[in-house]
Amino acid sequence: MSNEETPAPPGRLDGKVAFVTGAAGGLGRSHVRRMAEEGADLVIVDICRAVETVPYPQSTPEDLAEAVEEVQGLGRRVVARQADVRDRDALQEAYDAGLDAFGRIHIVVANAGIAPLLVEDRVQAWRDAIDVNLTGTFHTIEVALPSMVDAGQGGSIVIVNSTAGLVGIGGASNGGLGYAASKHGAVGLMRTYANNLAPHSIRVNSVHPTGVPTAMVIDPAIVEFVAQDPILSETAPNALPVDMVEALDVSNAVVWLASDEARYVTGVTLPIDAGFINRR
Ligand SMILES: NC(=O)c1ccc[n+]([C@@H]2O[C@H](COP(=O)([O-])OP(=O)(O)OC[C@H]3O[C@@H](n4cnc5c(N)ncnc54)[C@H](O)[C@@H]3O)[C@@H](O)[C@H]2O)c1
Repeated sequence: MSNEETPAPPGRLDGKVAFVTGAAGGLGRSHVRRMAEEGADLVIVDICRAVETVPYPQSTPEDLAEAVEEVQGLGRRVVARQADVRDRDALQEAYDAGLDAFGRIHIVVANAGIAPLLVEDRVQAWRDAIDVNLTGTFHTIEVALPSMVDAGQGGSIVIVNSTAGLVGIGGASNGGLGYAASKHGAVGLMRTYANNLAPHSIRVNSVHPTGVPTAMVIDPAIVEFVAQDPILSETAPNALPVDMVEALDVSNAVVWLASDEARYVTGVTLPIDAGFINRR
């Protein structure tokens, strides 16, 4: 039998539609690729512009256009919008555009997040961390809930959190404190939604990566910031002998939680951390 004749194996997300924020770059882009590879159609959102207190670049409209091409290249359909997760109305418009196009959305991946470590405006750095990472996650779930509940067929919500959502790391800066507080807060959201939505068979879980080589971690401005923060620079490494995990490792966990393979998994904080948490 030639390769052309070999039927493709069934995708783990065949027939599903996923709504993903922060989708144009970093981890979000990887989730989008993996979900499309597993058969999902995508509704993707990204801010595509700078956030003032964040010293490393955010994605661009060109990055979002590339993500669209990538999904289409994998044979899946996609609706893409520029929107800021802090702006609930804009997020609702993006979600509704996806709902209009596909009729149903089964999976939500609240991935957009920032590490606002620019020290000039300390108050704003705290606010931006809370607004994007915590309130943005809340908005992402809220815009999706009415249609998911009304459809009456369950669903899966995955929050992309961090090891900083489970243990007291983040460093001494206001932005770092805001990052840790926002990520801990998102655990509270996840656990409460998991209980509230269980009667609707909507599962809610979070993944907690250790360092992943995206702009948030490898940009020179961040590397320098971490080196100068006495607490951050002394944080102990992962238990397994790797400095970081790959975006794909996190996306594989997102796909699993989104899929029916995890149909009875809800309310879980899943570390993708090479043993980082277990060492604390
Ligand atoms: N990289 C890591 O080491 C790491 C570790 C643990 C957790 N995380 C989490 O993973 C998620 C993704 O981070 P990343 O490493 O891919 O970062 P990244 O900066 O590489 O990508 C973030 C993406 O989100 C978009 N974005 C930023 N603010 C937004 C907003 N307000 N509205 C919509 N989109 C917005 C950006 O344009 C970008 O495309 C975040 O929630 C982050 O906290 C990352």
